[in-house]
Amino acid sequence: MISFILNGVPKEVDVEPEMPLLWVLREELGMRGTKFGCGIAQCGACTVHVDGSPVRSCVMPVTAIAGKKIKTIEALGDAQNPHPIQQAWLDHQVPQCGYCQSGMQMTAAALLEEKPSPTDEDINKAITNICRCGCYERIRAAIHDAAKVQRAKAPKVVPTGETQDGAAPEGSAEPQKQDAEEKP
Ligand code: FES
Ligand code: FES
Repeated sequence: MISFILNGVPKEVDVEPEMPLLWVLREELGMRGTKFGCGIAQCGACTVHVDGSPVRSCVMPVTAIAGKKIKTIEALGDAQNPHPIQQAWLDHQVPQCGYCQSGMQMTAAALLEEKPSPTDEDINKAITNICRCGCYERIRAAIHDAAKVQRAKAPKVVPTGETQDGAAPEGSAEPQKQDAEEKP
């Protein structure tokens, strides 16, 4: 029996230890948002997050994820509360056939966690996923937009002793100013 956390929910599966995570997700747990493309870690269609990092689940044996946190496209966002990457994908009408896109979005979301202000070079390096429809230009533009939105949403760092609105804490004689500079 192998135990892990899938999208915040504890799971246990009784499968062959070498079964790839992708098969476990799709065939054992019915999570079909993660796609099979090449099966040899080349295309990225099967990308999920394992403890926050993007991995190609088609080549990851299920034993390697025991005790870890797995996140799939089903938990990235939804129609009511889309992840900034998903909203930017809609705004830029990124997908064509759509087959590669769940893996693409998971990779892009992980990039923003690691680099809130990615350059074109960062994006090129991170997005090694293959899109047969060639949506790469729109993907890049959407990632830049999503990064802006995510930075704007990020909580501001407030020095100890100040309140979020910049007012002095109770009992303090002098009002203090909030550092208005955006922290990445
Ligand atoms: S299906 Fe996993 S990388 Fe292509
Ligand atoms: S949108 Fe068709 S493969 Fe990427």
